[in-house]
Amino acid sequence: MTEIGSISKDDGRSRNSHRLSADEREADDLPELSPDFNNFGFRRALATFVTGITVVGIRIIADGAPRLVGLTVSSFNSVSLEPPLVLWSMKRTNPNIDGVARATHFTVNVLTNAQERLCTHFAQPLADRFDGIAHKISPHGAPYLEQSAAVFECGLEQVIDGGDHLIFLGRVLRILHRGGVPLLYRDGRRVELTGAAIKSEAP
Ligand SMILES: Cc1cc2nc3c(=O)[nH]c(=O)nc-3n(C[C@H](O)[C@H](O)[C@H](O)COP(=O)(O)O)c2cc1C
Repeated sequence: MTEIGSISKDDGRSRNSHRLSADEREADDLPELSPDFNNFGFRRALATFVTGITVVGIRIIADGAPRLVGLTVSSFNSVSLEPPLVLWSMKRTNPNIDGVARATHFTVNVLTNAQERLCTHFAQPLADRFDGIAHKISPHGAPYLEQSAAVFECGLEQVIDGGDHLIFLGRVLRILHRGGVPLLYRDGRRVELTGAAIKSEAP
């Protein structure tokens, strides 16, 4: 059986594919199941996976004072129906990681196409990303975006080691389900639902 190997150390190559020669790019395409992949090739293969986009909202305590933190997150996923569990992951180098790991609750806000600008906004270096953005506060104190396709208010159940990320497992306590056309990303770019896929959108 072929084993999927570990990721080799950063080989120093640029992450931007446009800076690579055609030969180098070709070397990252592995048509057979292979352990010979580097960070760049791993990222490119992962980029074939289409995700929705969410904004995670948390009230953290920083320097003894409460502060609202929000960030764009594509690592959100459902885990379990009974009990209702979801997860997302945060880069360990994020300056708010300690506050988020100590928080008791968070919200996950699933963005619609109409909320595209929030995807960029919540990844920008701003002191308070909720400043000037219409939001409400959940019963457990986490900020949420009412116009989202869906909002999940979660209790932080477990923080799990995820390599260079921490995985936050949350138990869903409340939901808001508005629906709408979801905002989708693939390979760092927005993709559109077309034809039948749009028609199948739940009311
Ligand atoms: C489309 C998209 C998806 C993202 N997904 C994640 C994610 O799942 N986890 C994460 O830690 N950061 C993710 N980020 C990056 C964070 O939103 C961004 O780096 C972070 O808000 C920067 O925070 P800081 O300014 O507090 O360091 C994503 C950014 C974008 C644009």
